[in-house]
Amino acid sequence: MSLQYQNILIERKENVGIIYLNRPRVLNALNRNTVDEIMNAMKDFNNDENVRVIIITSNGDNFSAGADIKEMSQLSSIDAEEKSPLANWDIAINSVKKPVIAAIKGYTLGGGLELALSCDIIIASEDAKLGQPEINIGLMPGGGGTQRLTRLLGKHKAMELILTGKMIDAKEAEKLGIVNKVVSKEKLLDEAIELAKEIAKKAPLAVKYVKEAILFTLESNLQEGLRYERKLFYLLLGSEDGKEGMRAFIEKREPKYKGK
Ligand code: CAA
Repeated sequence: MSLQYQNILIERKENVGIIYLNRPRVLNALNRNTVDEIMNAMKDFNNDENVRVIIITSNGDNFSAGADIKEMSQLSSIDAEEKSPLANWDIAINSVKKPVIAAIKGYTLGGGLELALSCDIIIASEDAKLGQPEINIGLMPGGGGTQRLTRLLGKHKAMELILTGKMIDAKEAEKLGIVNKVVSKEKLLDEAIELAKEIAKKAPLAVKYVKEAILFTLESNLQEGLRYERKLFYLLLGSEDGKEGMRAFIEKREPKYKGK
């Protein structure tokens, strides 16, 4: 394992590059620095000819409880538009030409679920809990959730999940087609590596073009949707209710909303 980063660990296993989110004390909440590090590691693996498939997973019991609310609560809408990593995140993930497998466990929420949804294949451990809980803190998904879940699930299920902010378990996520496979927690990484190695044996160019072709179908108009979603997210982030929701979370109390 390499210690070149602060908030992630990276490892190479034969032709597979592995990124581990590594802020377990805060359930791998994604602050700006962590997202920058993930993107840098993705770029390095993308440019490394020996790496054929990338896995993103985590250290600790949870994949990620989403964007770092403490960091985010300090941002104005304009700060978020100018400095938040959400825009770069999508561009960087989209420019990775190699298949990316997300191996998720425990809480996989908000930006954490959106990070997994931006990957090409998702394997979940039995204890994974998935959701877009932003609505519970007066916000909305800002990393692709409204766009990708709607494409994946259709309007009604996406509305239900995102409007209620409720969590679903790994089995239900598999039934809905969000995750490819559910395995025991002990086997999660091994299963992801086994799948990665199987893909890594195929012709690299064919793998690259299959990914490109599949994404092409899905992504016509997606960029527009993502830009729109981000604008709305930034507006909410600066709203009174957004600030109240985040403050209430940090102060461990019920939020009081005013509709402003
Ligand atoms: N950001 C910052 N810190 C977080 C966090 C987050 N998203 N989620 C958890 N933490 C921190 C907690 O503040 C706590 O730290 P302290 O001990 O210093 O108080 C620590 O991680 C452990 O968390 P809890 O004590 O809350 O653990 P729990 O087991 O009681 O609850 C949980 C777990 C249900 C996941 C709860 O932590 C939770 O609801 N987290 C927030 C989930 C959320 O709202 N995510 C969406 C974020 S917004 C977003 O992602 C926007 C976007 O689309 C880009």
